[in-house]
Amino acid sequence: MSNFSSLKGFKDLLPEDTPLWRRVEATAEEILQTFGYTEIRTPLLEPTELFLRSIGEHTDIVEKEMYTFEDWDGKKVTLRPEGTASVLRAYLEHRLGEGQVLQKLFYRGPMFRHERPQAGRLRQFHQIGAEAIGSLDPFLDAEVLSLLWFLLWELGVDGLALELNSLGCPLCRPRYREALLAYLSERADRLCDDCRRRLKTNPLRILDCKKENCREITQEAPASVELLGPECAPHFKEVQGGLSDLGIPFRINHRLVRGLDYYTKTAFELTTSRLGAQNAVAAGGRYDGLAEALGGPTTPAIGFAIGMERVITLLREKEPSPPKNALEERGPALFIAALGETPKRRMAPMLFRLRQEGIHAEMDYGDLGLKAQMRQADRLGAKQVLIVGEDEIKAGSAILRNMQNKHQEKIPLQDVAERLLSGAE
Ligand code: HAM
Repeated sequence: MSNFSSLKGFKDLLPEDTPLWRRVEATAEEILQTFGYTEIRTPLLEPTELFLRSIGEHTDIVEKEMYTFEDWDGKKVTLRPEGTASVLRAYLEHRLGEGQVLQKLFYRGPMFRHERPQAGRLRQFHQIGAEAIGSLDPFLDAEVLSLLWFLLWELGVDGLALELNSLGCPLCRPRYREALLAYLSERADRLCDDCRRRLKTNPLRILDCKKENCREITQEAPASVELLGPECAPHFKEVQGGLSDLGIPFRINHRLVRGLDYYTKTAFELTTSRLGAQNAVAAGGRYDGLAEALGGPTTPAIGFAIGMERVITLLREKEPSPPKNALEERGPALFIAALGETPKRRMAPMLFRLRQEGIHAEMDYGDLGLKAQMRQADRLGAKQVLIVGEDEIKAGSAILRNMQNKHQEKIPLQDVAERLLSGAE
């Protein structure tokens, strides 16, 4: 215990947590690479303006959730609340599209949003994301979705539903916005305070409101897919056709509008009923206008991000604690029980050499007696223990004890390393 604990909504990942995290990350990376994605790492801190321009000024994230401050030069900076804006910034800044039809990038790491912490919702959370930049082809939408679907399936996350919508483009969106506004304005007195405000700032977000009254009203609201223009309507049809060809089941959700303004055309979420209110495990969509909004050339793109904590929660349901033999598997090949100052000093070089050779070996850091050291070796899950006291040092030998079958033998000290390196028990 100390006087400090981590900030609300910020979580430590302890040694008992990290093996599963690493497994998820390794599996995801392998699959992403198979689908042609290469890794990009962008800074956690970006100019605030980047997120205002990309996520949108009238979104919850920008209005009330960003960790924004002035740095010592008086520049407004923000801890990234998501990865897409940074990836596209880097793509444009380093001209990653030059000479390429399509650039497929993946990333992972922490994101920061000052949301109200609750189950499944943190202030520092982690995403694995993928962005395919440079194509408008609906086949790509289906491919990106199949990648996401396969990735979560391979990780062992099952029972997911893919919810799909098309939000149109700058040509059809105004028509939809108008129709929606007309419908909602007639019913404004029954909307919640937040949604009445959204009528002026971001009416699409009203579809996403969780309040009972607002949900009742939006139930019958016009759907964006009904008002798609001549480019977006066939695009959406082809995305659906592509998904059917790949055998990916989906459901069209007219309410799916996403909390970030950069989306155009395809938008999606993968949800589960097993996570309570925070039911989205992954989400994404097309953002064909974002590159231009950031001052770059027209560059259609699509991507997704997976919420790592939510994936881990679902996997933990299936595998609540590390398997019983996990400790044994991770335990050292050798524990050196050196008894006394001289044995300890004499064994230190051997410990170093074994580790240099890639053998996991441990030694006691205090000056415990033999019994206590044996208990420690047991706790660590050591396969063998080398017992070395003053007498052994003088005789140039030691006792090697096999912790599994309890067999003990005396062996010359000079043979210990060879014995372990040859893998003999
Ligand atoms: P997002 O829907 O804001 O999209 O986040 C994606 C996923 O991150 C969510 O579905 C959820 O699993 C997880 N997530 C979001 N906020 C939290 C939180 N406070 N605590 C825990 N997990 C959370 C994006 O971020 C877009 N950049 C996705 C994208 C990529 N679109 C195109 N490319």
